[in-house]
Amino acid sequence: MASTDKFKRITITSALPYANGPKHIGHLAGAYIPADVYARFQRSTGRDVLFVCGSDEHGTAIPNQALKENTTPQAIIDKYHALIRDCFVSLDISFDVYHRTSEPIHHQTSQEFFLRLHEKGLLREEISEQYFDEQTRTFLADRYITGTCPKCSYASAYGDQCEKCGSTLSPSELLNPKSTLSGNPPILRPTKHWYLPLQDWEGWLKDWILQSHQSDWKPNVYGQCKSWIDAGLQPRAMTRDLDWGIKVPLKDAEGKVLYVWFDAPIGYISATRAFFEEVASSKMKYATPRRNFGKVNPEDWKLYWQDKETKLVHFIGKDNIVFHCIIFPVMLHAHGDFVVPENVPANEFMNLEGEKMSTSRGWSIEMHEYLEQFPDKTDELRYCLLSNLPESKDSEFTWKDFQAKNNNELVAIFGNFVNRALVLTEKNFGGKIPPCSSLEDIDHQLIGVLKEAPKRIAEAIELYRFREATVLMIDLARAGNKYLADTEPWKLAKTNLDRVGTILNLSLQVAASLSIVCEPFIPKTAGKLGAMLRLGDLSWEKAGQSNLIQVGAQLGQAALLFNKIEDETIERQKQLLVERSKKQSQMNPELPAAKDAIQYDAFSTMDIRIGTVLAAERVEKSEKLLKLRVDTGLDQRTVMSGIAKHYSPEELVGRQVTILANLAPRKIMGVESQGMILMAEDSEGKLRLIGPEKPVNPGSTVS
Ligand code: MF3
Ligand code: ZN
Repeated sequence: MASTDKFKRITITSALPYANGPKHIGHLAGAYIPADVYARFQRSTGRDVLFVCGSDEHGTAIPNQALKENTTPQAIIDKYHALIRDCFVSLDISFDVYHRTSEPIHHQTSQEFFLRLHEKGLLREEISEQYFDEQTRTFLADRYITGTCPKCSYASAYGDQCEKCGSTLSPSELLNPKSTLSGNPPILRPTKHWYLPLQDWEGWLKDWILQSHQSDWKPNVYGQCKSWIDAGLQPRAMTRDLDWGIKVPLKDAEGKVLYVWFDAPIGYISATRAFFEEVASSKMKYATPRRNFGKVNPEDWKLYWQDKETKLVHFIGKDNIVFHCIIFPVMLHAHGDFVVPENVPANEFMNLEGEKMSTSRGWSIEMHEYLEQFPDKTDELRYCLLSNLPESKDSEFTWKDFQAKNNNELVAIFGNFVNRALVLTEKNFGGKIPPCSSLEDIDHQLIGVLKEAPKRIAEAIELYRFREATVLMIDLARAGNKYLADTEPWKLAKTNLDRVGTILNLSLQVAASLSIVCEPFIPKTAGKLGAMLRLGDLSWEKAGQSNLIQVGAQLGQAALLFNKIEDETIERQKQLLVERSKKQSQMNPELPAAKDAIQYDAFSTMDIRIGTVLAAERVEKSEKLLKLRVDTGLDQRTVMSGIAKHYSPEELVGRQVTILANLAPRKIMGVESQGMILMAEDSEGKLRLIGPEKPVNPGSTVS
């Protein structure tokens, strides 16, 4: 635990979620639950912890969503801030403060930060040519420009990234760029921006990350930083031409706002300021202090950001690594007053039932939806996510696994152990803790396991190995459960009540420690268990002792901690997921991008006609193809068509279809196909024939 003991206090942050939509359980697994385990554990050890988060309410994502929902950016952030905040409350994420970047104190903090860098001469002013949409009279943010990817020719690449081949792009690299606002090609216009010259900090970054954190940062995080640094750092614009955001606090900066990745991480600092202002004045709006902060003064926020004995830890998902490991630390260091993060334990992504989780594709479990379906199963979700955290590689959530974790571990091990210990004590000793008599080997073994478990769990948490820590936690319950199974106290009640007393005493001591060490992971359960055992608030250092509950103490009522989840429930959830993703893809079709303009001449070279299908048959060894005989008016010919999955041969005979008649003949599966049947294809790949609205003579032309 040496790494924390060097420090006097710990500032823990979780990535501020964009308030542009609901967040899913993959986000929860990435940046919120691990951070919460860490914060709860550190509080339990008595450390001075501040856990901050809030909504990220700037950037193009917000006005974008407002356009989609046909409302204002303000309405969007109000709606999603409240939704996300409430989900975190229900899931027991124990933030001390959940703030908003739209608050005046944040605008002020960000502007002061910017001015400080500006006054120190650490920002470079530069005029560059950027894309401008003449119709809407706006400079276009990277995401508002689409075009053809120069690397893979994908037609709908964004100005900052091609989602097909994954390349990082800049808008000027796109071929045939188009504004997504008007659909027109944008023009280049000069505009002034303020840049942070990251390359000037290369030496410092190399010392700080590559030298000092090679062994304690996770390999995925360290590796990404190293490849960024090795690739050569570039100046990065800290301002944008946009009307939604924090105004650049300079005279000659009309219409310009701070880059969202400049202001958002400063949000951690403003949240801390807001926290101490609220606690000092006892007027809580965004603050929910999770421990006794004593008498505070508004300036105390500085301790949590500027004191050398503060350990700063950022919990994020892997898509946020450069911002938290390179850009924000350079900002903090350049400013001069701040500490930089001690660690950034970023997680990879969590997939869902074999596919990437995505809110827009409807392939996700949104936090609020989970809570609607399983309002009283929040610890169960936390436990399942924790046991599957994508700590070193992408991981996967499946409903089946959720059921298995619940039924086979929480119910069958944890719940069963606690319940047996309590019920047997009720039955045999009227719910009073019996004394221990002489100890046998098996008892000494259990005491040894009990003593070690909290240390090992603590070690894993200190090393940000939350998955391992979760396993170690359930292993303590497993040891207790096995102890009961091996000693079988229910068989001894008639013959050796003393022995039963010893077994139950020790079991209850294990349960007591369990209520302490499970608290970071499954806090509601910890509370229920603590209440059943009538334990007060016990700190981590007590865990592992075998005399936490005094002989003769009266226990509370035993109640089941967990319930089995049935197959039907799981099937229903899987079905809901499929239905929702179908619905979503209909609402949000991913249509191919529009093609470039052509001249009429190009069109008129095509001989398109109406034909009548005379015969249709399946093609051997092909699931897709049908072989059609078509009367084109000019002749009768054979056309191979890939519609076997959409039409049966019988339903085609007699139908009028549209055929591209002068397409050069091609051999398909050994048959010469003379022409092509034209089809409508929707975003899900469903094919529909196109025919005349009323019958026409075969050979009628289409133009
Ligand atoms: N809103 C960002 C995202 O969801 C995260 C911002 S983290 C902060 O990816 F540090 F900038 F706040
Ligand atoms: Zn590409």
